[in-house]
Amino acid sequence: MAREFHTVGVVGLGTMGSGIAEVFARTGLTVIGVEADAAGVTRARAHLDRSTTRAVARGKLGAAEQAALLGRISCGTSLAALADCDLVVEAVPEDLPLKAEILGALDRICPPATVLASNTSALSVTEIAAHTSRPGKVVGTHFFNPAPVLKLVEVVRTVMTEPDVVTDVVAFLEKLGKAPVVIGDRAGFIANALLFGYLNHAVRMVESRYATREDLDAAMRLGCGYPMGPLALLDLIGLDTAHQILDTMYHQSRDRLHAPAPLLKQMITAGLLGRKSGRGFYTYA
Ligand code: CAA
Repeated sequence: MAREFHTVGVVGLGTMGSGIAEVFARTGLTVIGVEADAAGVTRARAHLDRSTTRAVARGKLGAAEQAALLGRISCGTSLAALADCDLVVEAVPEDLPLKAEILGALDRICPPATVLASNTSALSVTEIAAHTSRPGKVVGTHFFNPAPVLKLVEVVRTVMTEPDVVTDVVAFLEKLGKAPVVIGDRAGFIANALLFGYLNHAVRMVESRYATREDLDAAMRLGCGYPMGPLALLDLIGLDTAHQILDTMYHQSRDRLHAPAPLLKQMITAGLLGRKSGRGFYTYA
């Protein structure tokens, strides 16, 4: 019989984790969110308020529904709160030792039947799964930013993932209104493997003063029909996250396409991380 996921947990409530928690709570699920510290909890609450207020303004959510949705998400700092979850998604930063540590801790806290999912964008789900005693119940669930808006979720199966876990996670995501695709475990999966070479190339064009950021973005929006230009998209993703994804893909493939443009690192060092820090290629209020 197909397993059902009623109580779900999200570890790491940054841009992606908060968005994933919102997706779950929108369909009436109880969500237990865990952050590293009290400041993280405050940031997550602010992110959830902003995002759901935007959904209300866009006519996607009623004001009463917004309050109910937010009420279904609890945010704390203890992983022990996840002990009764049917599914836990980790969305902590793209750092393999950190993700492995979190998965190991979840493995000890959650019952053996709990499915553990990683929202990694480029790291090896197989390596993450190997830090648990239940690699058959570990999958990748890679959401796209903004998670409440974009339908795609890449469901990553490793050589160890039990086939019925993949089927049940796919069915669950479809019930949430998402459009899952299933792939094997290779850095970048489908979308990032195709997208990040393009984004990196755009940074190199700015770096060499080949075109202005505004003209670059306008060209791709107005000439190719993309919803946003590559530099605005990098600001949305976060330059630090983008750098980590490129770096991981580059180390796996050695394809120069993914060798991070030096300008990216310089901007990160200067604290220009994109929307989340108020400034990246553009400045945000
Ligand atoms: N909740 C629900 N719906 C929302 C919403 C919210 N908070 N915010 C916007 N929407 C809906 C709008 O109602 C609208 O829907 P309809 O077309 O049905 O009316 C749609 O989303 C677009 O909204 P807007 O036209 O108002 O545009 P926007 O400026 O608010 O947002 C955007 C635009 C969704 C961000 C769009 O520009 C976009 O899709 N950009 C590309 C994003 C992208 O490529 N993301 C992938 C990044 S890569 C990644 O995430 C992987 C990784 O590992 C890093």
